[in-house]
This record gives sequence, C-alpha cells and structure tokens, in this order.
Amino acid sequence: MVVLNMQPLAVGQVMKQSESILDIKDLTVSRSGKVVLNKVDLAVKKGEFIGLVGPNGSGKSTLLLAILGVLKAQQGTIDIYGHKPMSRNILGKIGWVSQAAAVMPKNVRITVRELIQLGTLNSRNMFLRRRSIHREKVDRAMEMVGLEGVGDHDIARLSGGQRQRAVIGRALASEAEFILLDEPLVGIDRNSRNSLLKLLDKLCHDENKTILMVSHDLAAIRQTAHRMIYLEESIRFDGPTQEFPDLTSLAGLRGIEPVHGHEHETNISNSIMIETDNAELSKKEEE
Ligand SMILES: Nc1ncnc2c1ncn2[C@@H]1O[C@H](COP(=O)(O)OP(=O)(O)OP(=O)(O)O)[C@@H](O)[C@H]1O
Ligand SMILES: [Mg+2]
Repeated sequence: MVVLNMQPLAVGQVMKQSESILDIKDLTVSRSGKVVLNKVDLAVKKGEFIGLVGPNGSGKSTLLLAILGVLKAQQGTIDIYGHKPMSRNILGKIGWVSQAAAVMPKNVRITVRELIQLGTLNSRNMFLRRRSIHREKVDRAMEMVGLEGVGDHDIARLSGGQRQRAVIGRALASEAEFILLDEPLVGIDRNSRNSLLKLLDKLCHDENKTILMVSHDLAAIRQTAHRMIYLEESIRFDGPTQEFPDLTSLAGLRGIEPVHGHEHETNISNSIMIETDNAELSKKEEE
C-alpha cells in the first residue's frame, strides 16, 4: 500500500499564513460565446494546497488561464497579490505548470539546467550581467526538485516524472510563490506520481509556496491537498479535503439522478470518475 505520509497543516501555521493572495469575485468567463465559468467566487490564502477537480470541459483550465490573465473576465474581478492578473507588479510571482509543458518534442535539445535557467529570465533581468545570481537560483531550484544530479542530462533522456520535476523547477527558478499546476500527474508512473506529490507537499510546507493543482486523479489529490474545489461551470464544493463528498453525493451535487434504479456511479461517464476508479483499483493492487 502507498503511504504518502503528508504533513498536516498545523493550526499555528494556518494563522501565520492567512494572508490572502487571490481573491476572485463573481467571475464569469465565456469562450466562443459559451459561458464556461459562471459567477465563481474563490479566495486563496498563502500556504494553501488546493486540489481543483471536475469533469472534462468543466472550466478548470479556463479558471487557471483567467487567473494568469490570459483569458479576460466578462464579469467579476480577479485580484492577485493585490493587483490585476498580468500586472508588472506580480511578474515572476506566479508559476504555471501544465502537463503539456513536460511533453517536449524529441528534437528539442536542451539540458535540465538550461531548461530550469529559462525560468530565471524575465523582462527586468534579461540583460543583467551578474550571471552568478541566475546560477544560484538555478542551483537552488534543481535542489528543490531533486534533479541536482542530472543537470547536464538532455531533457529527452529523463523519465516523464523527472521532466515534470524539471518544469516545476523552471517555475521555482523564477521564484514563483503561487504555483498553478494543470494535470501534472498525467502520463507518469505511480512511483513518480507519489514522489511528485511529496515534492509539492514539501514546497508547500517548507518553502511556503501556495499550490493550486488540477487533477483527474481524485485518490492522489485527496491524499495531498488540504482543500478541495469541485468546479463545473460554477463551484459546487469548496472545503477541507476530509469533507469532500463521496461519488454518490458528488453525483447529487451535479444533479445526476439514478436511472432505472441504478446507483449514481454507474451513470457518470466522465473522466474524473473513471480515473478515480483506476486510481482506487491500482491502490488495491498494491495492497
Ligand atoms: N480555445 C477554446 N476556444 C473555445 N472554447 C474552448 C477553448 N478551450 C476550451 N474551450 C471550451 O471551454 C470549456 C471549458 O474548457 P476547459 O479546457 O477549461 O475544461 P477543463 O475542465 O480544463 O477540461 P479537461 O478536464 O478536459 O482539461 C469546454 O466546453 C471547452 O470546449
Ligand atoms: Mg483542462
């Protein structure tokens, strides 16, 4: 059986870290004329580790893109570190890691160190001569993601899990405090997945990073996140992980009625449920 042994957030820690870094009010976002996010309210405090779940097409990636400022709000406001998204004042404070970011074309020849170093560049320091500052940041980021031994390896030689770590390392090298991850667990094996979750947990507890992670792997995310959000156009659940509803209650939240006397679960054919079943199954295999 896999035991991830995550550290619970101590009461004092919550008090200390209660600074609000993201405040979303009444957010509505449309894409191609269709409302994708509808009246979303969300507040995130420094040091939180939040799992964002929901079926395919429910607006998870859209929410991250709106926070990043890539997608504009039709209605409502997003306040991040007291500023609007994409403001110069928050440059480098937010890191974005997508699954696609770790899947690089085979013909891209770049070492782990070089990739992570890209994270240190921004419009303010691009022409800075003091390379030593960049080097320190890169060394520290490589250490944080446990890749210090493979800095000179070509990215193509890494495993999926290591590549994902390298992409997280790039975000850390920019000294991002708030890290948004969009399905970072897809396509990596179980051991890599567990060590990646441990790494994120550690970043949250030891480095005081704030994490908002989208995943379809409900079992994995439940073991790690302190707080869960279930999004389907609007937020249907937001609360402590231990209070996250079971599959039947979740179906109720989604307004799915049992058909022909079957249980709710059998009627839900979306990936969150399927992935959950797989994760639950693989856990059982290990036991
Ligand atoms: N570039 C786009 N242009 C128009 N509509 C889009 C675009 N990208 C996504 N959408 C639509 O927006 C809705 C939400 O998509 P989004 O990618 O946010 O969902 P998601 O919850 O991240 O889904 P998944 O779990 O499959 O990644 C979907 O209906 C999708 O079809
Ligand atoms: Mg998505």
